Amino acid sequence: MKKHDVADLSLASEGKRLIEWADNEMPVLRFIRKTFERTKPFRGMRISACLHVTTETANLMRTLKAGGAEVFLCAANPLSTQDAVAAGMVRHYGIHVFARRGEDKKTYYRHIMWNLDAHPHVTLDDGGDQVHALHTKRKDVLSGVYGSSEETTTGVIRLKSMEQEGALQIPVIAVNSSRTKHLFDNRYGTGQSTIDGILRATNILFSGKVVVVAGYGWCGRGVAMRARGMGARVIVAEVDPMRALEAVMDGFAVMPIRKAAREGDVFITVTGNRDVFRKEHFRSMKDGAMLCNAGHFNVEINMKELASLARSKRRVRELVDEYHLSNGKRIRVLGEGRIINLVAAEGHPASVMDMSFANQALAAEYIAKKKGKLEPKVHTLPQEIDERIARMKLKTMGIRTDVLTQGQKKYLASWREGT
Ligand code: NAI
Repeated sequence: MKKHDVADLSLASEGKRLIEWADNEMPVLRFIRKTFERTKPFRGMRISACLHVTTETANLMRTLKAGGAEVFLCAANPLSTQDAVAAGMVRHYGIHVFARRGEDKKTYYRHIMWNLDAHPHVTLDDGGDQVHALHTKRKDVLSGVYGSSEETTTGVIRLKSMEQEGALQIPVIAVNSSRTKHLFDNRYGTGQSTIDGILRATNILFSGKVVVVAGYGWCGRGVAMRARGMGARVIVAEVDPMRALEAVMDGFAVMPIRKAAREGDVFITVTGNRDVFRKEHFRSMKDGAMLCNAGHFNVEINMKELASLARSKRRVRELVDEYHLSNGKRIRVLGEGRIINLVAAEGHPASVMDMSFANQALAAEYIAKKKGKLEPKVHTLPQEIDERIARMKLKTMGIRTDVLTQGQKKYLASWREGT
């Protein structure tokens, strides 16, 4: 069995410093780690995670290890790995990491296989690639898995479709469905870090730009809000009438992408859907238009169609490819159309991942405790755990809240009192 595969172990001490820096902003996860050190919920267990290899993930891995597990980690995206962090985890925290930034597709899947060679009891996923591999190529490992957890919207959609087809054979906790996850990570995390990624990749001024945001879900709301905050004029594109209406009421212009294509300077997809920006749109975009994706998979911009329209392509900055179209216009794609906040920036800030990964840690503990008792379907963490995380986060922020009086509790539970 492979022990690790990282780019450069000599980066380990730099990685450790970065991991510790993030840990400063993760008080809830630190508290859980301290508790796990005492209670050892994963004693004798192996846990294999397929997550973005970042500083915050490193602190989650430390937490699982503190709970007694032997921990394995591979990347959830070939371009999101931070090599120093991967090295730091191997050398300083005893985590088996299989991830190299920029690994090709073959290596990406080979790393998932090595992760599964551990025959884990619990798996953690971000996007569903590892669970998919378990149900297709590694059925030999599946029967030993008590359960899994899933981090993101796209992964949960995949799992629900597996469940509907009767293909899902293990229980999975949809961490994304916790309110302490999607209300904060997707909105404030993606909102800030997507803008951060675009700025680091391009160094453009947002002020005065026309920014088109496709998808007004939890992530899209955050991206639109932060782009407006930077002084951009924001256009939202949606397919869901409720969300389109919400965007209008929030003060954004709403129109089909076909129309927005002619107006935008910067285009951001965050829908979880494919071919959101495609041939018919590329043709009418302005010269110099910039395109990027903050959705999980690199399917939202149809890169094949863009390439087919292009006369030539050149790399103009480290993470910017310029396509020279036959109509004379230049279209610039950031981060190869992959998840921009992780490719060009560092993903979400640690303080928001503190809540997401508190959910992951407690989901793993929940799976370990319920071993064999959960049905093979998509579950949500109990509301009590979700609220416990919110209370812990508020406490660490030094914020106290009101509590219901007995009279208020009685009033809310009763139907007798009216006008
Ligand atoms: P969501 O389901 O709340 O929102 C997606 C929105 O896109 C929906 O309102 C839907 O109607 C809309 N949509 C779908 N197809 C569309 C189309 N063709 N044109 C316009 N709008 C369309 O999902 P959420 O949580 O906002 O996640 C979106 C994507 O971002 C997913 O792939 C998710 O996994 C990913 N994600 C990325 C993160 C990051 O760090 N970049 C963090 C969290 C989630």
